[in-house]
Amino acid sequence: MQIPAFIDANPIVRRLPLAVRTRVEAYVEHINAVLAVENLKVMGRLAPSAARGLFLRQGRAGTARMQARHRAWFDFDYPHDNPEMRALYEKAKRLQWNGSTDLPWQTSVDPYDPDVPLVDHSFFDWQVFRRAGMTFTDREKLGFEHKVASWMLSQFLHGEQGALMAAAQVTEATEQFDGKFYGATQVMDEARHVEVFHRYLSEKLELRYEINDNLFTIIDGLMTDGRWDMKFLGMQILVEGLALGAFATLRKTTGEPLLEELLRRVIHDEARHVRYGLLALAPVYRQLSERERREREDWAFEVVVLMRNRFLVHEMYEEDFAHKMSRREWNRIIEQMPGLAAFRRTMFRRLVPNLRAIGLLTPRVVRHYERVGLGQYIHLPSTDRISDAEMVAG
Ligand SMILES: [Fe+2]
Ligand SMILES: [Fe+2]
Repeated sequence: MQIPAFIDANPIVRRLPLAVRTRVEAYVEHINAVLAVENLKVMGRLAPSAARGLFLRQGRAGTARMQARHRAWFDFDYPHDNPEMRALYEKAKRLQWNGSTDLPWQTSVDPYDPDVPLVDHSFFDWQVFRRAGMTFTDREKLGFEHKVASWMLSQFLHGEQGALMAAAQVTEATEQFDGKFYGATQVMDEARHVEVFHRYLSEKLELRYEINDNLFTIIDGLMTDGRWDMKFLGMQILVEGLALGAFATLRKTTGEPLLEELLRRVIHDEARHVRYGLLALAPVYRQLSERERREREDWAFEVVVLMRNRFLVHEMYEEDFAHKMSRREWNRIIEQMPGLAAFRRTMFRRLVPNLRAIGLLTPRVVRHYERVGLGQYIHLPSTDRISDAEMVAG
């Protein structure tokens, strides 16, 4: 959902102080996105998180409290109730790695070295900027690439913190005991991911961006939902599925060996996390009533759209480009960047088939995915049918 053209041309908006204008443009975009939600029940569920994330911008405060409403499930019979989850737990224990000693942290990283690009130079189309009246020197282009790579990795880091908390909640809330064992390994995995992304950003890139308002909204929504399956759906299928595609895209395009190895290891872990989500949800979702399925289908679709339309590097825009162009113009430029377009494609190549695998792509909702250009991914193999090597290859 884009900002209407009249906002750009509105003389009152154009005369506003810069900080106020950027805020107004963002609000208009957010209001349009919220009004586009068709299922009123889903809108009611998303609205409090959208208010906190998009309008109050609570993610930018540095710290946040999210009120958990789920119940912790205890079972004093300690059953072996899911052999596949138990096997995943054994695999996860075997494949643990140490973020401080298993990565080549001694590698020196220089974002301004053109021979070792953080993201491939073809990621950006500088002609698009030129047509918008902006030119960059070679060094400025490297600076821009450094910032975009830092922005992406910052969002990965914030998403990993969300995954750390969600994995802990899921471990408490799941009624399967083998799921609790497996979930505990995921908590450890996510702590390691937070550790390595944070260290890479701090020591190597020396730059970190705030959490994107949309990502905050999604994390807030699944953390505060009391239903355990919504946590699995939100984190293990949607956010993790998206991350899996995003990590693979960045790994393929980076020329920086430490980042490449860091992402390769994280992808292996993430593939397990998504498989866990599939194992937990597929049997439960086969038993849903029509009303329950509709709500989950529509909620998943809205979260997908929120992620698809809104990851447009706005935090960087607000810092460096808001005085040069409107938010609408920025969105138009960023959408034309070949690397970011490829980024969005790969993200949904992993995520959409998993929604089919858990039964949330009935014909009623398929046409919505086709309408927003994601129909091409529906029939691809789901994550449980893909090897780890294919997953890393992207
Ligand atoms: Fe992770
Ligand atoms: Fe994960």
